[in-house]
Amino acid sequence: MAGVRSRQFRLCDISMFDAGLQWGAPLPMKIDWYAPSGETSRASALPVNRPRVRATLGRLANHVPWWGKVAAKVLLSRLPVGHRMWKQLGLFQHGAMEQPVYASSVFMKHFARVRSYLSGEGFVCLELGPGESLFSAMMARACGASLCYLIDVGRFAVTDLPSYHGMARYMWEMGLSFPELDNARTVMDVIDACHAVYETEGLDSLRKIPAGSVDFVWSHSVLQHVRRDEFVPLMRELHRVLRGGGVSSHVVDLGDCIGGGLNNLRFRDRLWESSFVATSGFYTNRIRYSQMIGLFRDSGFEVDLLHTYRWEHVPIAREKLSPSFHGLPDDDLAVSGFEVILKAM
Ligand SMILES: C[S@@+](CC[C@H](N)C(=O)[O-])C[C@H]1O[C@@H](n2cnc3c(N)ncnc32)[C@H](O)[C@@H]1O
Repeated sequence: MAGVRSRQFRLCDISMFDAGLQWGAPLPMKIDWYAPSGETSRASALPVNRPRVRATLGRLANHVPWWGKVAAKVLLSRLPVGHRMWKQLGLFQHGAMEQPVYASSVFMKHFARVRSYLSGEGFVCLELGPGESLFSAMMARACGASLCYLIDVGRFAVTDLPSYHGMARYMWEMGLSFPELDNARTVMDVIDACHAVYETEGLDSLRKIPAGSVDFVWSHSVLQHVRRDEFVPLMRELHRVLRGGGVSSHVVDLGDCIGGGLNNLRFRDRLWESSFVATSGFYTNRIRYSQMIGLFRDSGFEVDLLHTYRWEHVPIAREKLSPSFHGLPDDDLAVSGFEVILKAM
């Protein structure tokens, strides 16, 4: 085991980490180009000017109508191109966790909310959907976790050591103590140094975790991506793994992954829930705000709503909605996202 640097983490630093993590802030809360599930991360060099290509694609995307984005994503997601190359183009990314500022801010946001429920050092935590990196485990270790589960549905986390050294340097500069990574040779060594477990079988991975063994669960822009028929089983698993009195903190984005509106509600259930759509890079389960809150309660959680975000107007004409959404009140359709604490009773 690598040695631990002894610089102290100061609680007042939390507000600094939280800076820039407001809804709609420049940091990418909105993950538009969500990757198709099942892809693995592969390194691949791209013989083009990546920042320029990314900027051009970004500008182009602003002018493409929602249906053009859907068509482009369906086509692109079927090309034999690895996740790494899409990433280099800024497409089909699983969030922004490869950025130390973002990853640390996300962790601190959730940790600050639940730390009063944790009994000192040595807590066990679980992140659902860590996406592009395992930086959360480094943050959890630095804040006193004895064990950190990272559960995803694919091995999307970067595996190059320099990224983890960069995160360690960033954390050190922020005053966080973290095990030295000097002896780390692979990302597995980093995982060991963090006392972390990285599993990528989604619900099946959760089922392997002992009941009542976790103090704190968090997810950031993930719950809306869980396949609809897995949502309740997954929430029940999260409830099962939490100890009595354990807490979870979630940030949920209810916009579509096609441009930030509600164009995803145009489609009929049968098409939307098909594996064709689920593997096209823009799947969201379309569970609306009040329904999701109800499902949290049905899964055994006490719900403490922290923030609800709303569009000024429902961003789609009612007649364009698929029949299953026609009956929803405007008040529900206008919710673009929310932040919530769930307590295991
Ligand atoms: C939009 S990304 C967000 C990633 C990261 N939390 C962030 O803020 O950058 C959604 C993540 O949720 C993961 N995900 C989707 N369904 C999941 C499930 N059933 N269990 C665990 N993770 C899941 C995806 O693979 C992806 O990594």
